Order: sequence, then C-alpha cells, then structure tokens
Amino acid sequence: MPRRHLRVADLLLVGLCFAPQGVLAEPDRGADPTEQRVQATLAQMTPDEKMLLIHGNMPIMIARAKRPADAIIAAGYVAGVARLGIPPQLSSDASLGVANLMDMRKGDVATALPSGMALAATWNPNLARESGRMIGAEARAKGFNVLLAGGVNLVRDPRGGRNFEYLGEDPLLAGRMVAASIGGIQSNRIIATIKHFALNDQETGRATASVDMDEAAMRESDLLAFRIGITEGRPGSVMCAYNKVGGTYACENRFLLTDVLRRDWGYRGYVMSDWGAVHSTEALHAGLDQQSGEGIDAKRWFSTELPAALAEHRVTPADLDTAVGRILWSIEDNHLGKTAPVPTAIDYDADAKVALTSAREAIVLMKNAQDLLPLKPATRSILVVGGHADLGVPSGGGSSQVVPVGGFRKVESLKQGAAAMFSRRAWGGATPIDGLRAAFPGADIRYLDGSDPAAAASAARAVDAVVVLAEKFSTEAQDNADLGLGDGQDALIDAVASANPCTIVVLETGNAVAMPWLAKVPALLSAWYGGQRGGTAIGEVIAGTVNPSGRLPVTFPQSLAQLPNPVLPGSDLPPLGAKDRIVYGVNANSPPFTITYPEGSDAGYRWFDRQRETPAFAFGEGLSYTRFAYSGLSARGGKSLTVRFTVTNTGSRPGADVPQIYVTLAGKARRLVGWAKPQLQPGESRSITLVADPLVLASFDTARQRWITAPGAIRVELSRSATDPVLTAQTSLSAASYRP
Ligand code: BGC
Repeated sequence: MPRRHLRVADLLLVGLCFAPQGVLAEPDRGADPTEQRVQATLAQMTPDEKMLLIHGNMPIMIARAKRPADAIIAAGYVAGVARLGIPPQLSSDASLGVANLMDMRKGDVATALPSGMALAATWNPNLARESGRMIGAEARAKGFNVLLAGGVNLVRDPRGGRNFEYLGEDPLLAGRMVAASIGGIQSNRIIATIKHFALNDQETGRATASVDMDEAAMRESDLLAFRIGITEGRPGSVMCAYNKVGGTYACENRFLLTDVLRRDWGYRGYVMSDWGAVHSTEALHAGLDQQSGEGIDAKRWFSTELPAALAEHRVTPADLDTAVGRILWSIEDNHLGKTAPVPTAIDYDADAKVALTSAREAIVLMKNAQDLLPLKPATRSILVVGGHADLGVPSGGGSSQVVPVGGFRKVESLKQGAAAMFSRRAWGGATPIDGLRAAFPGADIRYLDGSDPAAAASAARAVDAVVVLAEKFSTEAQDNADLGLGDGQDALIDAVASANPCTIVVLETGNAVAMPWLAKVPALLSAWYGGQRGGTAIGEVIAGTVNPSGRLPVTFPQSLAQLPNPVLPGSDLPPLGAKDRIVYGVNANSPPFTITYPEGSDAGYRWFDRQRETPAFAFGEGLSYTRFAYSGLSARGGKSLTVRFTVTNTGSRPGADVPQIYVTLAGKARRLVGWAKPQLQPGESRSITLVADPLVLASFDTARQRWITAPGAIRVELSRSATDPVLTAQTSLSAASYRP
C-alpha cells in the first residue's frame, strides 16, 4: 500500500480542536448589547410578569381547563409575556432524542439515538455535535425551545441507574462531549440544559442524600466536567440536582450556584431546578432562577409562596430581577424569538442516518481471539440467541426514554402508579436479527429467545456461528443491585459457548457488567443501548462492513470488591412505606444519609491506577479490524503541554483509531489529557498535535482558591487505553496558576 503524506490541514484541524479552552477570561459586561436588551425588557415588566418567568409546571399537571393552548404534553411549560415578545418556554427531555414517554398513548415518536454512554464510546465530539444538532432540529420542529439535554454527571459506580444517560467517568471526555452536544442543540435557536448540577452520581437516595466531598476533589472531577461543558458549550441553562452537597440541597446551594457557577465561572444563563428538587423560596436568593416542575415540589415556592417571602425580606426584589434577567439573557442569547416555535415536518429518514452513524461508531470490540470477527462472508448459518433480538434493541428507562420512529415493539412497566414512567423496559428500532440478515444475505439466520439454555446449546452445535445478545436494563430512579446480567443469561452464554466455539457475545447494557463466561467466549462487543438503528449497526460490525472504532468510556471492574464503595451507599435503606411520597420515581421521604466517595477526584480508571487494581477491561480500551502503530512521540512542557505523534494504519482495512494521551503528575493518578480520532486508509499515516487543557495538568488548591500547576517532571504516555501505554516521553511543567 502506498503511504500517504501527512496533510498540514489534518494537523491544524486536530490542533484547533484541542486548543486549550478551560482557562476563563474575566467577563466583560460593559457594552454587551444582549444585556442592554435584557435590561430594557426587564424595565417594562410588572412584578406579576416577572413571577411568570421563574416558575413552571409539567403540562400534564395543569388542569385541562387552565392548560395554555400552546403547552405540549412534555416535561415543562413556563408562560411567556406576549405583550413584550417574551416567548413561553416549552421544554422536553432530550439527552438521547426528543423524549416523548408522557405522550406515549398519542403515538408520538422521535429519532432515538444511542444512549449517552454509547455516544461517549465514540470519543467523537463531532458526532456529539451532529447528534445535538439533529435533536435540536427535531425538537424545534415539534414546537420546543428548551431542551433538558446534557447530562454530564460522572460515572462513579457501575451500578448507577442513569449512567447510560451520561458520558462516562472522565471529566475531560465527558466535558468535551457534552459541550459539543450543547453546541449542536443550540445551533437550532434552542436553549440546552446541562445537568444535574452537581454530584447526582447515583439514584439511590437521590432526593435526600448528601454527597460530602472536599472542594478540591469536586473541582477536579464532577465540577470540572461541568466547567468544560459550560465554558466550551455555553448552555443557556443549568439544572441543579436533587441531592444535597455538603449538607445543603443542590438547588439552594450558594457554593454551587453562586460561588462556583457565577463568581468563578462567569456563567450568564439561568439555573432551573430538577423536577421536585426545590425546598424553599430562599433558593432564589442562593442562586436558583426557576422552579421548573413546581407541581411535584412540596410547595410552589417561586409562585404562591413568593409574595410572603418578599414581604418578610427572605428574598428581595433584586433577587427576582436577577433571576428574570438571567432567563431573558438566555432567551436573547439563543435567539429564541418572540413566540413558541411553529411545528414543522421532520425528515425522519435523514435523522435515522445520524442514529446509524452514532450506533456504528459507539460499538466497542472488546475481545477478538484469533481475529474471529468479522465473520467470513461465507458464513452460512447463524443462530441468534436472547436479548429480545426479534423486538429491536433495549433502551434505558426514565425521563430520557425516546419512543423511536416506528414505535416500541414491547413495553414492560416494572412499577405501578407514579413510579411506572421511570421503569419502562422497552425494545424497538431495527432488530439485530434484521441487521444480521441484511449483513449476511443468503445465510440461514434463526432466533431463539434463550429461555431454554439446553435447547439453545443444542441448536448452537448445528450452526457456523452464534450471536448472543446479552442485555441488562438500567433506569432512572433506581440503581442496579450488582454487576450481574441476571435473568439466567450467564448460564445461557456458558452453555452456548461450550457448544459452539464460534460464539460472539454482544452486550446491550447501560453499564459495565460482570462476565464470568468470558474465557469461553472468543469475541465480545459492547453495543450499549444502540438507539433505533442499533440492530443494523450490530449486523454491520459482525460482518465487517463497518470497522469498530468505539472505546470504553468507563472501566469494567472484575468485581464489586474493586470499587471504592463495594456496598452502594444507601442500599440498606428501608423499603418504601405506605405513607412515603414518590417524587419522580424515588422516595422523597427516605431517611437522609451521607454519600462519601473514597475515590474523591479519582473516579473510574484513576481509582484503579491509584489502588494498583487490574480491571476486567480498562477505560479507553477497544479493538479494530485493522492495526495501528504509533511513532515519533514528542512532548513539550512549560505552562501547558503540547504533544505530537504519528499514527499509521498498518493493517489492510480502513479504520479509525483513538490514540490517547495520559500524564502522571507527581503523587497523582494517571489522567487523560487529550485524544484524537483519525480515520485512516491502509498504509496511511497522520501526524497529530494535541494541546492539553491546562486544568487537567493542575490541581485545585482550596486554601488559595486557585488551580496550581506544580513545576517539575511529568511522564507523558501515548496509550491505547488507560492501562496500555505504547510510547512514553518526559517533559517538565513550569509553575502556573489559574482562576477557579
Ligand atoms: C430528571 C431530569 C429531567 C426532569 C424532567 C427528572 O426526574 O432528573 O433529568 O430533566 O425529570 O423530566
């Protein structure tokens, strides 16, 4: 193969993508025309009109007779002020597509993208931007102008019920992916909301638990992901979380909402509450600007309770003006217009391509003994087992769930009453069976649901290859009890793999899982919750028409014993009592307790590095059907870090690689400081330049309230994963400090 020359344009592109953006400049508000328009509008508003903007409700909770004609049955509605051209705010959940589960009976659908975890597994911010653009365009066409997208809580525990919505365990990866997604959404004149601020990293006890973490650890982990997402993505809104942080509810936490967000990060947009997360009118004074789902809070703190609080000087008219000003600022800054968006037609076929691209790039090839995959085109017979592969792919449950185009083929409500919405197990979209049939035309492809392992094993003996779909449900409002796949799937896989050595397991999960059968299985893929084209992508990857390029955005532990909290905090809480109040799927009356995370800032692979523990699969890991070689690593230190290297595709297929740069600072765990995703033809080389974000080279000094880069030698690794360095270099950093 001829070796292609390096292109200067490639080099510049990558360099630009990774230019340091984390250091904040002092905001200059002097002659800001947006602010001038905001102040002009504010000056014309009556107190009642101001109050309208700072509270909202779920349309379904507004009595039909009082429900505004333009309200859509979705997450939220905040009235506008028509006489001043202030539009109503119509919001929908939208992390993985425009969520529509409240309107399920009416048959609404939307393009269902792969889960957030899957998106993170692409390590491709351009895809995050394109997914966001698509979601925003569909949302606008459906009449929404505010999207509750952008979940960026760090994955700290593989039992987390909502991890599938989030973007992995690393603050840089998660921060950059969420920033790109927000940018894409907001390119549609829509406000995006980064959430859940902050440290809502588990579902157990989310309404009452307090996360206690020292400030430096917070700033270097969860808050860093938010900081990157906010400074690079400029979301119009931030959603404060349900839980307490340091003993104070996140939605009335002055440290988070005012000191960090406003004073330190210069954030100009508004803070909305999570639904049912407000506990006082004084929250307004602490930095909350909008009570968004007041119908499910104990009181309507920002509407009926507000006049008394003003009269008693518990909040001030200035607090009200500040909150309204921030909401207006975001409306102006994102060019929402004077009215709600007018619904228009959606090109679902075009959007399905985005879903397919994302599903393809998200698949991680975790094991491929003797290059079993891709299966040979001559494969005549394939047995597909389990995972409801005849019904589509699974989706995660909760407020982010999207009814895909074509609808779900099966829905199981695992809970009753108010909690039901949060635990709908559902399957839909392109099925893996159809995906395999399209990828292996002419082959005999049969399906068994896997309920009878002996029958599956006997059928497995008669075919060329077996594909087992191994699934695990995760949902908002509930964490998983353990790492097991459950439903007898381990025994099923063991039986089938013992019967046929050509067994491929495809994980369809929202989290890392345990795989006791791994040694018996030669090929393993993770396809996560793949969205409405997930089944197609699985077929293409198994056949090799798509070369997998995903990398794990989370560590797969060997066992719970390796985790910082082998017992999930709060998992010993008493079961629901008859008088307990369910707020959005969780018990709002559960006894308060404290969550401590022994890993502090070292979530995920950093904890494993610190403890010298070997994971089952490392963060960043993923194989390809081609091979990549690394050469010419050089690192230049100083106040920042610039790394150069060359990646060459030495195999015989085109493919994309994800070279990763990690540094080890003195006395600290390994940290990811940059990555690239070059697409290379066989024989092609690409020179890559990465400039590290200065904050990932620094540590937060709480006493000085500054980020400090310690001078001295650092080790730089060009790696295939958090545990697989290929080339190393040494350089030195010089002393530097940055505002918080
Ligand atoms: C979730 C939020 C969501 C809101 C509105 C809450 O239960 O935590 O992520 O945006 O509901 O549906």
